[in-house]
Amino acid sequence: MDCGTRPIRFHQPWARQGLSSKQWGDLEKAIHLYLVLITQTIVSVVQGTGASFPFVIQILTGCEILPNGTSYSFYQSTRDRHSLVRFNLDTGEWVAAPGDEMAQQVCHSFSQDRGTSNRLRFLLQNTCVAEILSFAYYGKGALKRQGEARPVLA
Ligand SMILES: *[C@@H]1O[C@H](CO)[C@@H](O)[C@H](O)[C@H]1NC(C)=O
Repeated sequence: MDCGTRPIRFHQPWARQGLSSKQWGDLEKAIHLYLVLITQTIVSVVQGTGASFPFVIQILTGCEILPNGTSYSFYQSTRDRHSLVRFNLDTGEWVAAPGDEMAQQVCHSFSQDRGTSNRLRFLLQNTCVAEILSFAYYGKGALKRQGEARPVLA
């Protein structure tokens, strides 16, 4: 996705078939809004703590279908490669990296926004799993050719 202009680009032709165009549109909107929100939150926390720019925030998130058919969803973030906050999908709670002032404040800010947290949880535990199953169906041939025993698509 080009985060400035928003549209998702497809690198595999079968990927587009995995979702309807409304589903792709909703996903584009959700990711875009989320990136705006997270940037605003972090900028306001940094201004409050007097910490300095620049730094790199990375987020690893998605879901995985395990061989026994159960699924596993995850969301973790880092600042300059150090743990920042993670989202506990079982409890719906944000968890800050211990001993990090900025992490505590980002965590506090995310925790207050129950609406976004609940939508994120639903997206990762329900939407993501359903969509992965659809990708696995449309991408079956291509994914098998890569010889992956457990394709991780998130
Ligand atoms: C499925 O597999 C995962 C990972 O091996 C395991 O942790 C989990 O308990 C299993 N669940 C069931 C219902 O077998």
